[in-house]
Amino acid sequence: MLALTVRPGQQGSSSLRQMAEPHPDEGSLLVQSLVVGLCGTDSEIINGEYGETPTGEDFLVLGHENLGRVLEAPSGSGMSVGDLVVGIVRRPDPEPCTACAAGEWDMCRNGRYTEHGIRGLHGLARERWRAEPDAVVRLSPSVGRLGVLLEPTTIVAKAWEQVERIGKRAFWQPGVVAVTGAGPVGLLAALLGVQRGLSVHVFDRVTAGLKPDLVRSLGATYHSDSLPDSGLRADVLMECTGVPEVVVDAMSNGAPAAIVCLTGVSGPGRRLPLDVGDLNRQAVLGNEVIFGSVNANRRHCEQSTCALAAADPNWMSRLITRTVPLHRYPEAFARQPDDVKVVIDIEAAGQ
Ligand code: BGC
Repeated sequence: MLALTVRPGQQGSSSLRQMAEPHPDEGSLLVQSLVVGLCGTDSEIINGEYGETPTGEDFLVLGHENLGRVLEAPSGSGMSVGDLVVGIVRRPDPEPCTACAAGEWDMCRNGRYTEHGIRGLHGLARERWRAEPDAVVRLSPSVGRLGVLLEPTTIVAKAWEQVERIGKRAFWQPGVVAVTGAGPVGLLAALLGVQRGLSVHVFDRVTAGLKPDLVRSLGATYHSDSLPDSGLRADVLMECTGVPEVVVDAMSNGAPAAIVCLTGVSGPGRRLPLDVGDLNRQAVLGNEVIFGSVNANRRHCEQSTCALAAADPNWMSRLITRTVPLHRYPEAFARQPDDVKVVIDIEAAGQ
């Protein structure tokens, strides 16, 4: 079967290759891959900046944002042939640490977790894969191919859950949310903010086109100026760019008691002048919280299936701006101006 692979650490090493069918030891469910979504992490991996092969292999199959259809399911597994499923990206570390043992592998304490298509486990950009039933989430058939948005939704479902848990430390009645970045993660963070009845403001650099339109269709407010220039003081700030200047803006422009959630993974090496005394003074006097959030566990997957089911399918389908066939995958990685979420069609490769 065909797989989209890369040699981690080697820029330009991506290729389509034939690989063996998944071994039954990999799990009792056999799944047909339908589509995989691409994100900044995949770009980093194909640029040789991130990613790790499974032990004993010299390549990594890409693909962590995924959607598949069950081809074989053992009786009693709770799954049936034809079910739409998403493979859970992160798997607990082998020890497991106390967090992984509690099912919170997203909070792994010893860093020995693995991630499909990213770190130490093959991804799902291959025609078929296997998993145990507890390593997948089942979606309602009505979600259809929009189910490929589940994984990026889990990232913001976790972020929102953590914000709300932190908010409960004291009296808290948030009203205004600022989201920096109108990429898929920012837009999905905005969706979840709107679903919570909050007044959501999304900041991005573009002045026209699909992104402002998607924000407005949610009933949120779009800003093409910077957070400090807008004068907005939000109760919750979801930083979804990882761009150092924007991260600093988010950390320094909240309302008193603001909760700032950082979700964008940035590269090291960029130094900025920063008035740490002022930032610290504001955080202390304002009881602010600045925290990072990565990945998601099963609970967040379940929250996300509800969030997707409650969202407008037309709005979600507009997030998927391009679907590229597997054999033309390089086109998927060539960014186009109005790209939001680009997905690769895997199912069609076998037809
Ligand atoms: C994925 C997460 C993963 C993170 C770090 C993100 O792109 O969506 O599941 O934990 O990268 O590897």
